[in-house]
Amino acid sequence: MTHDKKRSPSLFASSTYYRYTSSTTTLKDSYEYVIVERRFPSPSSDTATNTNGVGIIQLHRPRALNALCDDLFDDLIHAATALNEDDDVGCLVVTGSSNNKVFAAGADISEMSSKSFVEVYQSNMFAQWQEIGNTLPKPIIAAVNGFALGGGCELALMCDIILAGDNAQFGQPEINLGIIPGAGGTQRLTKAVGKSKAMHMCLTGDRMSADEALQSGLVAKVFKKEELLEEAIQMGFTIASKSRVSVQMIKETINAVDDLSGLQEGLRFERRLFHSLFATEDQKEGMAAFLEKRTPNFTHK
Ligand code: CAA
Repeated sequence: MTHDKKRSPSLFASSTYYRYTSSTTTLKDSYEYVIVERRFPSPSSDTATNTNGVGIIQLHRPRALNALCDDLFDDLIHAATALNEDDDVGCLVVTGSSNNKVFAAGADISEMSSKSFVEVYQSNMFAQWQEIGNTLPKPIIAAVNGFALGGGCELALMCDIILAGDNAQFGQPEINLGIIPGAGGTQRLTKAVGKSKAMHMCLTGDRMSADEALQSGLVAKVFKKEELLEEAIQMGFTIASKSRVSVQMIKETINAVDDLSGLQEGLRFERRLFHSLFATEDQKEGMAAFLEKRTPNFTHK
């Protein structure tokens, strides 16, 4: 986490804040786990269009279905921070694999399966993920094709607008691993779809289709999977062409609705319960069973 050291400290530790930093984070030439592109509206002599760009971040860990390992999330935060500090970019799009199969299959189970309670508690695992949801002033559109499961669903929920391809499947399958969602699933999902649907998804691990996600208000629009990314970019251009200060204020005030209803405290509570599950036998069994491709045998201990 070399870039982490350059970050400004949070102004308000437990609420949404926007970072105005004097240090600059610029895009790296390349990243290991994300592919980044800056796209601009059709070439024009109008210089304004050259500052109305969209920053596209594609999650890229194909062999593990974009499982969100620490290094992937570091790359994502670095790229998103750099694009936020890029004056030529007015909106970000985060998307999944180019074959449209997966947005992200969740936190990396092999990376965390053998961790102890003390390790995850003391490192405050996943607290840093909230940088995507809390601190970046420019709007982020999640363009979701295929699986958005566990941390993948939670990452989409951290973004400001979710657009889905018609093959999208949203889910919080942590219950099948002997754990609970740890990065906002119980909080942001409940606010998005209501208690009953959130309970259903978190307690059973059942997934929600793109159509149901649209009906539930989880996503803003559904497109054909092949057209999703282009539609997201066009929406990004529209947002980038508006008054940037007004755009930033709209993001800040709409997110204040969550803060005023105690989202940050709920996220902290969820995350700490999530950490505590690493002291249970069921967490070790659930994750081992996934990695060994077998059904878990929970002992409720
Ligand atoms: N972590 C690590 N590796 C993962 C992974 C994950 N979350 N999801 C998939 N993979 C790996 C698989 O282990 C497999 O690796 P190998 O080829 O080396 O065996 C590879 O990606 C392909 O996966 P599958 O063979 O399982 O692919 P599939 O098409 O049959 O199934 C799937 C796709 C339904 C998404 C399935 O992979 C799956 O259920 N993944 C796990 C989903 C999950 O439980 N997510 C929650 C994680 S916990 C979490 O996110 C906590 C939180 O709150 C942040």
